[in-house]
Amino acid sequence: MKLNIDIAVASKPEWLDAVMNDFNAFLRDHLDCERKASAMAMSFVAKYPDRVEIIPELIETAIEELEHFQQVYQLMASRGIELTHSIGEDPYVKALIKRCHSGRTERFLDRLLVASVVETRGAERFRLVAEAQSETELHRFYKNLWTSEAKHGHLFAKMALLYFDEKTVYSRLRWWVKQEAEVIDNLAIRPALH
Ligand SMILES: [Fe+2]
Ligand SMILES: [Fe+2]
Repeated sequence: MKLNIDIAVASKPEWLDAVMNDFNAFLRDHLDCERKASAMAMSFVAKYPDRVEIIPELIETAIEELEHFQQVYQLMASRGIELTHSIGEDPYVKALIKRCHSGRTERFLDRLLVASVVETRGAERFRLVAEAQSETELHRFYKNLWTSEAKHGHLFAKMALLYFDEKTVYSRLRWWVKQEAEVIDNLAIRPALH
């Protein structure tokens, strides 16, 4: 069952053009995003060890994201694309985190909902990347990732529903979808996931 809310604005065609025009740069950034997604799932375990109900799924998600990292790395290696020194924070995620509440409980809800929205955007963008590929291997690769990130988008909303009532979760999630639209619209276009 779908539990998240769809993103409010579609990615700009200029973004997809930038990605397709420098696909190697996109792959390097994508690789980094998978590493950060894995670390993000584990950071919930570290920050909220008392939320025991979600720990198994968080660990599973972290492993899945690390598998994505491995798959992107293998794809890059097979194409002779070298890794670069990782460039710090993602401006998109940073802008979203900045809008999170600071109280412990409210922040927990916000972090889960931000994760849901980020995963849903990832799914939308991987779908666009998959559909733009002329190579069957790349098409299949991004199609699989799109499915997986869409599943994560539901998963984080499901986790929020375990601890907060439906009204609270969906009114805040609707607010987050609006925030995300604003953030993504103001991002500089670059050959990167965000
Ligand atoms: Fe992933
Ligand atoms: Fe994901």
